[in-house]
Amino acid sequence: MRAWQVSAKGEPQDALELVEVPRPEAGPGQLLVRVRAATANFPDVLMCRGTYQVRPALPFSPGLELCGEVVEAGPGVGGYRAGDRVIGGAVLPHGGFAEYAVMDAGRALPAPEGLDDAEAAPFYNTYQTGWFGLHRRARLEEGETLLVHAAAGGVGSGAVQLGKAAGARVIGVAGGSHKTALVRELGADVVIDRTAEDFVAVVKEVTEGRGADVVYDPVGGEAFRRSTKCIAFEGRILIVGFASGDIPSAALNHALVKNYSIVGLHYGLYAQRQPGAIRDVHAELTRLVDAGAIRTLVTERLTLADVPDGLRRLGAGTTAGRIVFQP
Ligand SMILES: NC(=O)c1ccc[n+]([C@@H]2O[C@H](COP(=O)([O-])OP(=O)(O)OC[C@H]3O[C@@H](n4cnc5c(N)ncnc54)[C@H](OP(=O)(O)O)[C@@H]3O)[C@@H](O)[C@H]2O)c1
Repeated sequence: MRAWQVSAKGEPQDALELVEVPRPEAGPGQLLVRVRAATANFPDVLMCRGTYQVRPALPFSPGLELCGEVVEAGPGVGGYRAGDRVIGGAVLPHGGFAEYAVMDAGRALPAPEGLDDAEAAPFYNTYQTGWFGLHRRARLEEGETLLVHAAAGGVGSGAVQLGKAAGARVIGVAGGSHKTALVRELGADVVIDRTAEDFVAVVKEVTEGRGADVVYDPVGGEAFRRSTKCIAFEGRILIVGFASGDIPSAALNHALVKNYSIVGLHYGLYAQRQPGAIRDVHAELTRLVDAGAIRTLVTERLTLADVPDGLRRLGAGTTAGRIVFQP
């Protein structure tokens, strides 16, 4: 089969090599799947660079998230039939940027019928991260104001939709007019172009000085530092990621003086520790899809050949929504 592999770390366009390798086998507790679609996630870029918290042994195929069709189940796996359409995380080194990948049977989820393959692939990380972040960690309530950074991006676009579905007033920040138009289409109440406006001033203005109750921050750096200037009394800043490459330090005296919380979110830990909760959230998210409240923002449907360039553009911050590769 064809697979992209990283055998030396670097920028995606340098580190990735298209190779012909034997089809992997499903081990105990695993599924072998034919990849129908695999998502480009920022951690795939970071894994190519060797700067992600997960550092698989070389060589490995990235592609952390996918929609696949079950080919065979490994020893001890019941409940799956060949042809079942599933979504979830890949078990590295056999990631989704290949014709076949390996998944953990215990963590695979049924692909929602209302989503096609390309829409289903990003339905795992994007919305589960948003749900656990907004509901479990930040306890977002109806009527509160939610500020989302990188709101046209992968996890950001999901957070905008989930915020609206929860009855929050959503303020989306994105870079450039193409992205702000997408954020508006997603349903954000207020949209800010960070390349032309100061988001702190706009948030203060539209909340009459109160600030945002919850900030969803996948960017870090200045996005985090400036968010502390417009967080409400008893507000929660969700630390989702550091797409800017800048991991900021928090001024704890400031958090004390203003009564706000800095809340960490590592969605992957829920997948490891509470697989039952993941299934419950998946059922709720599927219900929201069926009700028309959320839908994955897939902006580009690409082929396997496009993986290095797609990851390069994701890493450079020029993609919007989710880009997806279909072998
Ligand atoms: N905590 C968790 O459990 C969890 C789960 C999933 C993902 N994440 C993290 O969430 C972050 C976003 O992931 P994603 O895949 O959804 O990516 P993404 O948001 O689609 O892409 C990153 C976005 O960040 C913004 N950005 C601002 N400054 C940037 C810079 N210097 N370089 C690149 N981008 C910059 C850009 O949007 P604008 O130009 O519109 O600002 C860009 O489109 C990553 O750090 C990822 O690791 C965390």
